[in-house]
Amino acid sequence: MTFQAPKGTFDWMPPRSELALSVREQMSAPLRLAGYRYVETPAFEDTALFARGVGESTDIVSKEMYTFEDKGGRSITLRPEGTAAVVRAVLQHGLHHGPLPVKVWYSGSFYRYERAQKGRYRHFSQVGAEALGVEDPALDAEMIQLAAEAFASLGLTGVELLLNSLGCAACRPAYRSALQDFLRGLDLDDATRARVEINPLRVLDDKRPEVRAQLAEAPLVSDHLCEACKGYHEEVRSLLRTAGVAFTDDPRLVRGLDYYTRTTFEYVYEGIGAQTAVGGGGRYDGLSEMIGGPPLPGVGWALGVDRTVLALETEGLVEANTPRAGVEVYAVPLGDEARRVLFDLVLELRGAGVSADLAFGGKGVKGAMKGADRSGAAYALILGERDIAAGAAQVKHLASGEQTAVPLAEIVTMFKEKLVK
Ligand code: HAM
Repeated sequence: MTFQAPKGTFDWMPPRSELALSVREQMSAPLRLAGYRYVETPAFEDTALFARGVGESTDIVSKEMYTFEDKGGRSITLRPEGTAAVVRAVLQHGLHHGPLPVKVWYSGSFYRYERAQKGRYRHFSQVGAEALGVEDPALDAEMIQLAAEAFASLGLTGVELLLNSLGCAACRPAYRSALQDFLRGLDLDDATRARVEINPLRVLDDKRPEVRAQLAEAPLVSDHLCEACKGYHEEVRSLLRTAGVAFTDDPRLVRGLDYYTRTTFEYVYEGIGAQTAVGGGGRYDGLSEMIGGPPLPGVGWALGVDRTVLALETEGLVEANTPRAGVEVYAVPLGDEARRVLFDLVLELRGAGVSADLAFGGKGVKGAMKGADRSGAAYALILGERDIAAGAAQVKHLASGEQTAVPLAEIVTMFKEKLVK
């Protein structure tokens, strides 16, 4: 029997894997320039952390978590997202007692038991950032700008930024009940009616046309914001405008996680499957308390690596973002003595910063030269018995076929000059 990657998952294989790596790199580069520090938390946590943090009534918690009991009888969940875990870690290590905001970023795998399709996987990758301990519209604007910057640095032009404010503990309850009153009057199926009672904001996110059609007159959160939330949101918008970050106000934008307050946003991209969000985030001023911590406001985002790679493929930006793969020098030994000499020389080349590989497996000249061609190397370094006696190796430029003998003692310096920038 043979095995396949489990349903809803896929393998990152070269060269796509190298594109994904470079995407993660470019998503985190702006963060590092802005003082965000790298953190890594476990791939699993106590189930209760997500149940409380993300919210029992969300799809993520109620339907999509990989939850199991470990051998010690604990309920464990593979992380469906990073924010609750990062806040847990910051509290556990007391970072919030130091300088604020605490600025951290992370990169890793996340797990959701979703209906698998293009762009929606059960195992996926995010690069995320969180800034904790400060409520300042400039921090929200910085966050939003940093993700926009990351997408722009990849060359993507089709990413649209949607922006909303979900209000705060003071104004959200009144909006919630106004929305519930409206939704109770609609013609909805039982599951959606139940949702109206436990999580009415999520109904606004329903994608079915028959539901959407009825939502045209739904009350908007923007009409129910308190003065403080209105002022805060206005400031975020104005800072974004000054920074040249284009955005679209979307008063219907609600997010799939319960912890959001005030600023919420999503980066969307059309044409990469049914799912359009390539990233999303917002402010979550109550999350710390929801998981048993002190009041600790926060704002952050997570960008989807998998969907961003799909977007790059859609825009023809694969080559521009895939680093050169393979080695530059491919050494071909003819005989045992030559193999010993080249083995050392290859290590020396690498030590000097020149990428180099050796024809392993004693394939003979023809097989080894084929290997050189396939390796994508610029040069073959060929050594036979006569060359050893002469103290030189043959350096062959593979594209032109041009070949010269170079003294063994000069090989490293020569390649270093030619190839190391
Ligand atoms: P999220 O919107 O659930 O937010 O996920 C962020 C991004 O992860 C999405 O925009 C999408 O690109 C990617 N993503 C999510 N689920 C999948 C999936 N099943 N397959 C492929 N890609 C997926 C969060 O996770 C929040 N923790 C973001 C945040 C950080 N908010 C504040 N701080």
